Amino acid sequence: MSDLHHFNFEAVDEYKAWQGFYEGAFTSVNKAIQAKDIKGFENAYATVISGCNDCHAGMGYNFVKVVKMKAPADIGIDYMVKSEPGIVHK
Ligand code: HEC
Repeated sequence: MSDLHHFNFEAVDEYKAWQGFYEGAFTSVNKAIQAKDIKGFENAYATVISGCNDCHAGMGYNFVKVVKMKAPADIGIDYMVKSEPGIVHK
């Protein structure tokens, strides 16, 4: 078993900021996906990318620069196959 299983992420100082980011900024991305709102998604995605980079710069990691992806990160999956946002199991 890896040490990662025993690591208490919530005890890390940055955890609260992370949690706020994912529960805040990321929510609008997920909502736009659920609503199949492509314009809303583009806006929310751009906002999240700015948020990623604002935090990196604010914590002294301005060289960690997130950019908008031009294609899906996973080339092992055919994302053109039709699906519905609600189909993912919780
Ligand atoms: C709450 C602050 C914060 C937010 C928000 C944040 N990051 Fe980071 N990120 C960090 C810090 C601090 C580091 C550098 C420390 C580290 O690598 O552990 C980092 C490092 C990274 C790295 C480099 C990891 C490595 O091992 O080199 C990537 C990739 C990354 N972030 C992606 C993202 C993406 C994508 C987002 C937005 C979806 C994001 N981050 C949002 C704080 C944040």
